Amino acid sequence: MSATQNLEPYWMPFTGNRYFKSHPMMMAAAEGMYYTTTAGQKILDGISGLWCCNVGHCHPKIVTAIQTQAASLDYVTAFQMGHPGVFELAEKLTEMAPGNLDYAFFANSGSEAVDTALKIALAYHRIRGEGQRTRLIGREKGYHGVGFGGISVGGMSPNRKMYANTLLPGVDHLPHTHNLSENAYSRGQPEWGAHLADELENIIALHDASTIAAVIVEPVAGSAGVLVPPRDYLQRLRKICDQHGILLIFDEVITAFGRTGASFGAETFGVQPDLITVAKGLTNGAVPMGAVLVDTDIYAAFMTGPEQAVEFFHGYTYSGHPLAAAAALASIDIYREEGLFERASEMAPVFENAVHSLKGAPNVVDIRNIGMMAAIELEPRAEAPALRALDAFRRCFDAGVLVRTTGDTIALTPPLIIDEPQIDQIVTTIGQALRSID
Ligand SMILES: Cc1ncc(COP(=O)(O)O)c(C=O)c1O
Repeated sequence: MSATQNLEPYWMPFTGNRYFKSHPMMMAAAEGMYYTTTAGQKILDGISGLWCCNVGHCHPKIVTAIQTQAASLDYVTAFQMGHPGVFELAEKLTEMAPGNLDYAFFANSGSEAVDTALKIALAYHRIRGEGQRTRLIGREKGYHGVGFGGISVGGMSPNRKMYANTLLPGVDHLPHTHNLSENAYSRGQPEWGAHLADELENIIALHDASTIAAVIVEPVAGSAGVLVPPRDYLQRLRKICDQHGILLIFDEVITAFGRTGASFGAETFGVQPDLITVAKGLTNGAVPMGAVLVDTDIYAAFMTGPEQAVEFFHGYTYSGHPLAAAAALASIDIYREEGLFERASEMAPVFENAVHSLKGAPNVVDIRNIGMMAAIELEPRAEAPALRALDAFRRCFDAGVLVRTTGDTIALTPPLIIDEPQIDQIVTTIGQALRSID
């Protein structure tokens, strides 16, 4: 960054713009587990960029795939046309997906994937003659991106409150599963809380199942601060949905591609959804891409009518973009070749022990984890919520470690290539940060 660079015109997303512009944090480069700031400081990445860069940064195979693709086919419309890479990607992705999720619809982000999945669910019921099934069920504290569909089914109030009267109508929310008095310091899935899924029965009793299209949840709520599903919770949701003809959508934008120690959270928890949304780790964050993985029966329901007619009036100019497809194909190869899902599963207990060693550090009220994701929740400062965690974040950054905060929770989601000394470095740095702030 040059001393004279004008920072003002860029309106930064999810950022305190005025604070940032007077205290900029700029990255110049990245490789493997590390960023390098414009000031030349090396920063250990404890959050995979933003739950994206599971294979580490600037993996040579991904770099080459993007470069080669950019020089051969830069763009082709996805409407009535294709290119081999996107078909190959759909095949590899659906082979990796659990059960009969045999079709992939491409978008460019998690938010678009979520809105696409919601639209598929609504259209599916309508095509089958159940067009009265329009109600969508999300969950408190859920995060499903920032499109109108996503914030409507989402449950994070700061993201919703400005739009209270313009959110989608006919949306209900399940209760969240965050409960410190029952579940504090759980390792893996908490024992308490499966009964919270039964709230779906109450929503059904209120509205009648015949009006409900789909339930959407993150298998592990990430943005709300790593809320791991209680044992049997997702199974109960699946059972109730099955009993009432309701589709179950897993938003796996952060849990897919090894984060929970398997290819998908659905696999880790042994629950088969009807639709899965993915993004982030799909391309290792290198080129924007999202996708919806769709059950065979749902796809089949759309494939009626005249053969030349468009079956689903939806898509994006950049759906299945050649550069994104190339990055995704390379990422999937690396996941397999480097055995990164297995590695995540093997490293998870080491990671778990390391983060739980922070129990007893100043102001820590909970530590929770699953796979290669963990959260350290802090007691908020009186009348200054979120600032304690933000202070810890800044201390960690200054000490060379990137963590993420959401409210007063510090979230960790390191690249799956992380080694033990790097896990130690992250945890030691957080411990020092917590001891150095009030
Ligand atoms: C579960 C989940 N869904 C959707 C999104 C939105 O993804 P994007 O920011 O790519 O639109 C996110 C982003 O963090 C997410 O965690």
